[in-house]
Amino acid sequence: MGTITMHVCADRLGGIGKDDHMAWEVPLEMKNFLEATENTTILVTSFTYRGLPESFVSKHRIIVYTRNPDEYVDDIYKGRIDNVISDIHDIYRYAADRDISVCGGTQLYKDAIDYVDRIVISRLYEEYDCTHFLPDIDFEAFNEVESKVHSCEKSNVKFSTTFYERF
Ligand SMILES: NC(=O)c1ccc[n+]([C@@H]2O[C@H](COP(=O)([O-])OP(=O)(O)OC[C@H]3O[C@@H](n4cnc5c(N)ncnc54)[C@H](OP(=O)(O)O)[C@@H]3O)[C@@H](O)[C@H]2O)c1
Repeated sequence: MGTITMHVCADRLGGIGKDDHMAWEVPLEMKNFLEATENTTILVTSFTYRGLPESFVSKHRIIVYTRNPDEYVDDIYKGRIDNVISDIHDIYRYAADRDISVCGGTQLYKDAIDYVDRIVISRLYEEYDCTHFLPDIDFEAFNEVESKVHSCEKSNVKFSTTFYERF
């Protein structure tokens, strides 16, 4: 069985995005995210999938979380995505033989929380203009194993990254 890890970056107030895109550009946080999710299968909502840059889609195996699987037949056929799921429980079908990165957005974080083994959360120290927010997560069910403070020189942004594992 592979590991199911939730990856999220939130601002000081729990904001995670503006409309269909991120509300910030923090290259160091993005670099860390790309390294941490390398060689894993990315699970995202259809909404988040549509906002992903082509450079990311072409380099990853992607599963889309949607209530409308028929809309993605063409993308599966073209090899843009691996597959779709409509029932979050199906996450186990894919985690059987690979590591899964649960990469948002809001609805997926909410629905997948009971299935994740680990959480990697970056918290930006500042507040941004966001329309989407992190749902309530019961961190009591998780053990904090490591936390680091980072300073991104390129964007002049400070953030912490904390790693949790389910008890
Ligand atoms: N900061 C971060 O780490 C991070 C990471 C990812 C995304 N984001 C941000 O989050 C925002 C998008 O959030 P979101 O994608 O969750 O949008 P949302 O508007 O909160 O959720 C709607 C999405 O969830 C899917 N969905 C809802 N209920 C479902 C169910 N029962 N079964 C299957 N699919 C279901 C919908 O798919 P259908 O309509 O196709 O059914 C739709 O794609 C963007 O601003 C994005 O930039 C931030």
